[in-house]
Amino acid sequence: MRDISHNSDPLSDRLLAWYDIHARRMPWRVSPQDRKAGVLPDPYRVWMSEVMLQQTTVVTVRDYFQRFMERWPTVSDLAAAQDADVMGEWAGLGYYARARNLLKCARQVVSDHGGVFPADHAALLKLPGIGPYTAAAISSIAFDLPHAVLDGNVERVMARLRDIHTPLPEAKPILMREAEILTPDQRAGDYAQAVMDLGATICTPRNPACGICPWSEPCKARAEGTAPTLPQKTPKKAKPTRYGILYIGRRKDGAWLLETRPEKGLLGGMLGWPGSDWIDKDSPIPETPAPCAGDWQMVSGEVRHTFTHFHLRLAIYVATLPDGIAVERGHFSTPETFRPSDLPTVMRKAFDLARSAF
Ligand code: ADE
Repeated sequence: MRDISHNSDPLSDRLLAWYDIHARRMPWRVSPQDRKAGVLPDPYRVWMSEVMLQQTTVVTVRDYFQRFMERWPTVSDLAAAQDADVMGEWAGLGYYARARNLLKCARQVVSDHGGVFPADHAALLKLPGIGPYTAAAISSIAFDLPHAVLDGNVERVMARLRDIHTPLPEAKPILMREAEILTPDQRAGDYAQAVMDLGATICTPRNPACGICPWSEPCKARAEGTAPTLPQKTPKKAKPTRYGILYIGRRKDGAWLLETRPEKGLLGGMLGWPGSDWIDKDSPIPETPAPCAGDWQMVSGEVRHTFTHFHLRLAIYVATLPDGIAVERGHFSTPETFRPSDLPTVMRKAFDLARSAF
């Protein structure tokens, strides 16, 4: 919790008044009007939306969020889910360690907290997958506790409001301090969402709409004409490219040869096609044996995908396999049980490329 005690700042009040009119509607959100009428957000929905929003955009998250809520309406439902079902629903969102932590967290909320998210920042931080950002977001949005949230949008807003030129990531603690100073004791949840909305809709990276911004007048970067150049960022290192192979086999009866990837490591616990390790070009692609005997043919084209730390290029081999064939690796999944949507994106791309070869 921040150590600066004050009730409110005129800047926060001004932003909250803007939010009362312009708050974006989202399936996990309680509108400022409903909030004032006493409607409380469901911490489970807040947690789920925040974990999902760390991966991707609000537009993509909407559908995933709705599907998760229909299938597992409460944290106890999620805790009781099969791991493979949750990983399957998460497929396409990326950062699969988050999905595994999502399940661990749900199970811990049930086992240690009676199925109720704790209204306590320190207790939230102890849960799997909940780091400082998510703990602050749940504390403020679900429980109205005055914890500052600092995501990319808020960093940009703070850097501009105070005209801070220190580059990210070095600037993070400075921007956090500014965010904490402005976080009000009252309506902390609405305030947190208001700064995020301001960053997403007005204080945008390239063409900020300063003319309609509720903080236009106090904004130092607007006065200095520096807003579009902020926040400054230390250039990131170029990503290396790695290479590998995947084997996509289909039995004559239509069953696909898949494997569940090991829990640890990239795409851990997800469904995928058997293949090689992914390595730098300089090292030759290891002679990974095919998962079973067959007339394996390389398809033309390759799969390209970018992960957080590297680009990946994959050659794809396909084979039609006899019914009853013994396999060294993986398991067959019949057309009735195999859902391509259960595959993580890179494996889905490989499937799309291979499909036409059968
Ligand atoms: N980004 C992450 N969390 C958000 C929220 N609650 N509202 C809007 N944008 C967000």
